[in-house]
Amino acid sequence: MEPRKSSAISKLYERSPAERREAVAAWAGLEPIEASALDDCGLSANDAELMIENVIGRFALPMGVATNFLINGRDYLIPLVIEEPSVVAACSYAAKLIRAGGGIVASSDESIMTGQVQLLDIPNIETAAASITSHQETLLRRANETATNIVARGGGATGLETRVFADTPAGAMLVAHLHFDTRDAMGANAINTALEHIAPALEEISGGRANLRILSNLSDRRMARARGTIPVDALGTAELCGHGVGEAIVEASVLAEIDPYRAATHNKGIMNGIDALMMATGNDWRAVEAGAHAYAARHGSYTSLSSWRQDEQGNLTGHIELPLALGIVGGATRVHRGAKAALKILAVESARELAQVAAAVGLAQNLGALRALATEGIQRGHMRMHARQIALAAGAEPDILQDVVQTMIREGRIRPERAKALVRESERRL
Ligand code: COA
Repeated sequence: MEPRKSSAISKLYERSPAERREAVAAWAGLEPIEASALDDCGLSANDAELMIENVIGRFALPMGVATNFLINGRDYLIPLVIEEPSVVAACSYAAKLIRAGGGIVASSDESIMTGQVQLLDIPNIETAAASITSHQETLLRRANETATNIVARGGGATGLETRVFADTPAGAMLVAHLHFDTRDAMGANAINTALEHIAPALEEISGGRANLRILSNLSDRRMARARGTIPVDALGTAELCGHGVGEAIVEASVLAEIDPYRAATHNKGIMNGIDALMMATGNDWRAVEAGAHAYAARHGSYTSLSSWRQDEQGNLTGHIELPLALGIVGGATRVHRGAKAALKILAVESARELAQVAAAVGLAQNLGALRALATEGIQRGHMRMHARQIALAAGAEPDILQDVVQTMIREGRIRPERAKALVRESERRL
């Protein structure tokens, strides 16, 4: 049996990028060709030409790896692609805290996508709705005609519903919802093809005219959730006791639950992690974003996707739930070598498992930001991460990097001009 690998790789950030890459490649069993995709942006000019139109080049972003994740008893290293400093560090830090409480427990639904066919000019809308319901079996069979591969893998059409909008500025309309299990694919193409295929039959049955035939990004039958507990002792800092930190996090959580102004920022923090994972794995992060925010507004008022509460001893438990329509096959994963390498590092076996990991990352990212906000404030860590980048951009070599960073932090002057001056001073001294 393969020995159990731990993702709690302490001080990974103190190694060079090449050393980190080597460590992660060894951890994940990447072949040299796969590891090289992490270094050369993972996308050849030819492959780029296969992905979109009018290609004129490629555009790289950093890929980092979040450590410490223990999800459903399994260790994960999480590749994250993002331009914002401190996200990867905060995510790793929070995963370390939750690990101290036994790790994250996550679950996810089957990969059920929902698609809509909009029907208008219907003579009798209630009769049409009833008729569509009575033809459900035939319509589902017809939808499956377009997806033999997915059906062979156990997926395909699972249900049909109707929704009536009797009075709209465009007249009465009936919307048929097709639910479709897309297995390990995000499934946009599969469901859109199925919708276009059944639209003529829906027109015939309803006596109406089909207009839109397209998936909904509010994929609320494709939910993922994650939960984790941080023991009160792990929450304390040099200045604050664990109970006080937990209490401040609960207060912050409650504000996000009741106030859309805070909820928007709270959820943005969650999506810092989830989007970065979507980017790394070649998933459609706009689809996931749209679904998350529509779900957050499902009761008519925009609210938080997560919540945090303390028990009597002060242990802090967080929970997150959101729709996650994502895949591990098809889409960009077909050509993007970087995305393929990221999926191999994750070693997820299904889209459902990736959704569990994404929910766990969202929960950890949320905790990372809330913990910082409730203790030292967000700027300290942010600027500390930023200081390193500024020092590097100013030309600080590894031997003076820490000195330049620490001096800027101590002085509270984290600026390019100051970094350049410190680099010049160090060079004069050498
Ligand atoms: N790179 C990667 N991970 C880092 C890191 C870095 N430079 N610095 C800290 N970490 C992670 C590691 O997992 C570390 O554990 P390890 O030492 O076992 O590897 C863990 O955090 C704790 O390290 P510590 O040195 O105690 O962290 P810190 O107190 O200096 O905190 C931040 C630094 C950035 C993690 C913290 O300030 C933070 O979480 N800030 C919030 C940032 C945020 O939410 N940003 C996004 C929204 S603006």
